[in-house]
Amino acid sequence: MLNRQMLNSLNGLIAFKETVLKEVQECRLYTANYPLLIEHILREAKLYRQMIMELERKGTVCAADIRSQELFWNRIMMEHAQFIQGLLDPSECELMETANGFAKDYCRLLEEAKEQDQKATYALTEKTLQTTKQYQQFKTAGTEGITGCDIRSIILPLLADHVLREANHYLRILEEAQKRQGVKWN
Ligand SMILES: [Fe+2]
Repeated sequence: MLNRQMLNSLNGLIAFKETVLKEVQECRLYTANYPLLIEHILREAKLYRQMIMELERKGTVCAADIRSQELFWNRIMMEHAQFIQGLLDPSECELMETANGFAKDYCRLLEEAKEQDQKATYALTEKTLQTTKQYQQFKTAGTEGITGCDIRSIILPLLADHVLREANHYLRILEEAQKRQGVKWN
């Protein structure tokens, strides 16, 4: 019952986000949010809906293959870095550069994930895990800097919290995949 209620709410939320995106793209609605941010949260809502539907069908959620997870989450991580860079005060040059560096790192990881064959998976997951650990530290420091009033930006604390929570979520996915791959490869 809870799943079905959630699916109803999710369908409504997805339809709402699609309407907002369409209105923004056709210049009938103006917002300080980037259109890419609206697309980003739309993709996240759709992934969540997929998981709930799978839970409904199978009674459990299987860990999706790590390659498709990496393709999804590396893109999300890359976009977070782009949003952070674009929402920092222009005087925060160093932080902007660091954010840009992470955007490039994830862009490269995305390219590699697209090209990789099965054999390269373990090495790429390891590389992605190391990058995401550093990224999580950057986001933690950023969130503390924003809530502690040490960073100049137009980033809302809730957005800082959102990007940090997703890095934590992705770290867990990567660590679990690595454990599974380790078992398979040894
Ligand atoms: Fe996100």
